[in-house]
Amino acid sequence: MADDKIRVSRRDILRGAGAAAILGTALPASAKEAAAKAPAGLTRHGPGAVPVSIGLNGKAAKVMVEPRVTLLDALRDRLDLTGAKRICDRGACGGCTVWVNGKTVNSCTMLAIDAAGADVRTVEGLAQNGKLHAVQAAFVEHDALQCGFCTSGMVMSCAALLKNNPKPTLDEIKAGIAGNLCRCGTYGHIFNAVQEASR
Ligand code: FES
Ligand code: FES
Repeated sequence: MADDKIRVSRRDILRGAGAAAILGTALPASAKEAAAKAPAGLTRHGPGAVPVSIGLNGKAAKVMVEPRVTLLDALRDRLDLTGAKRICDRGACGGCTVWVNGKTVNSCTMLAIDAAGADVRTVEGLAQNGKLHAVQAAFVEHDALQCGFCTSGMVMSCAALLKNNPKPTLDEIKAGIAGNLCRCGTYGHIFNAVQEASR
């Protein structure tokens, strides 16, 4: 009895294969129809490179990138700004932290095309008129790094913290940089540096 339910004839298999073949040829047409029916106002980009204009460290910048390229890769590989580091490449370490419209962003998790028109600031643009940002100077003063791989992201997060909260408590500093990991364990020196910068 069970055999009747599960028995599949050679004819069934051939019929199924025929249907799959028909579907295989039909899919591209369906995709085209779906694209044609895309709501007005939506633009398809790519897969080739498209121009993306951003404000970058106070200047206008334009870069050609495929829509799949992250902001981090655009900065490092197309715009020669290698301060932001690719460490985990999945939003877990904060090594790639930059500011987008004044807010910290893990640039490995954002597409460059999504930063179009935004004001992007990287660690290279933190010093002003040849003078280090207070956080940068305090990092130097307090030796707040060892290998330095986390440092640019850490500095950007610390500077953003002080921008929003000029006098943070130790707990607020810890919470403010909770998304930035330092494998060398220089946290104590980093906390001291931020407290110094806040003064
Ligand atoms: S490299 Fe972006 S969060 Fe780690
Ligand atoms: S100084 Fe080495 S990871 Fe932070």
